[in-house]
Amino acid sequence: MALNWVEIDLAALRHNFLQVRRRIGSRAGILAVVKSDAYGHGMIPVAKELAAAGADFFGVSKCWEALRLRSAGIVQPILILAGIEPDDIPEVLENDLRPAVYRADHCRMLDEAAGRSGKRARIHLKIDTGMGRLGIPDRELERFLGDLAGLRHLEVEGVFSHLATSDEADKTFSQEQLQRFRRALQMFHDRAVPFRYAHIANSGGVLDIPEAHYQLVRPGIMLYGSPPSDEILSPAPLQPVMALKTKILQIKEVPAGQSIGYGRTFICPRPMRIATVAVGYDDGYPRVLSNRGEALVRGLRVPIVGRVSMNLITLDATQVPEAAEDDEVVMLGAQGAERITAEEIAGKAGTISYEIYCAVGKNPQRLFRNGSIGLA
Ligand SMILES: Cc1ncc(COP(=O)(O)O)c(C=O)c1O
Repeated sequence: MALNWVEIDLAALRHNFLQVRRRIGSRAGILAVVKSDAYGHGMIPVAKELAAAGADFFGVSKCWEALRLRSAGIVQPILILAGIEPDDIPEVLENDLRPAVYRADHCRMLDEAAGRSGKRARIHLKIDTGMGRLGIPDRELERFLGDLAGLRHLEVEGVFSHLATSDEADKTFSQEQLQRFRRALQMFHDRAVPFRYAHIANSGGVLDIPEAHYQLVRPGIMLYGSPPSDEILSPAPLQPVMALKTKILQIKEVPAGQSIGYGRTFICPRPMRIATVAVGYDDGYPRVLSNRGEALVRGLRVPIVGRVSMNLITLDATQVPEAAEDDEVVMLGAQGAERITAEEIAGKAGTISYEIYCAVGKNPQRLFRNGSIGLA
């Protein structure tokens, strides 16, 4: 048995998927964002579980992630959110992948290759309505569509954009982006460029901006059980999917005055029971939580004392006299009635739950629980 491991609760994943469905009704499809190894949760088992639950589309960042999904038997359409490189084009066509496209030269290359292979390349054009990263600037869209006109082997399956502040309480900028998006969509209609899906809603849009749902929504973080921020106006009852667990390697009764860990940043103010657990920053637990984080031992919260090191953390288990060596300890997740969330850890670490999940999810020891399709 491993000294630390990540547990993925696939029943919680299904529950969160249903929360998305409940919010958007039956008219819009769900593109489940499973990029970056499903935010650390394990792309293949997560995608299989979501496919069984009824996901209509999957979203990844890079072409190789889409190919991995295809190899694992995922048949749903897959959108490559960061777009493609020229080298990816043969595999995109062969596997019927949908690249996000925001460059005219990529359109021409896809069109040419599709023509040569007797196929149509299905693309999703990305419009920059205010995020300022990838996307055709909306002011250049007219010219872009003009360039597209002669490319007969391309099918614009989708037109999409991305909201920069949908998770903030103030929706003013989201509304501005939506207005720009509506103008962009109108331009497609005016030029008689048909498309099947308009999409712009990430989790913040799913939860708080019903008019952003269109024909497809692209939730990521809410599938994994976290709200995109604590400013969400209409939160859903989500269930965290990931847990990080470890074990007590050793318990020591330590006299007052003894220092604990690197740098001697903690000096025991009185006799203490120090439990050393087998997890550290190499396992994605943030080192900035030295002397600040908490863990669950026998269902109770206990403080981290001393520095978080690469593979070990020291806990003050004085208040849990029954704690014993080999006990299971929860760093992220629930034990008894207590729960430590990714939001809590992220808040103390000065980051967001997304980063905690990605970091913790790198753990090679992953246990999938409560699967519905014989995965776990
Ligand atoms: C283009 C795009 N759409 C949707 C999402 C999902 O966002 P969230 O996890 O906030 O729901 C992401 C995530 O970064 C994204 O890059």
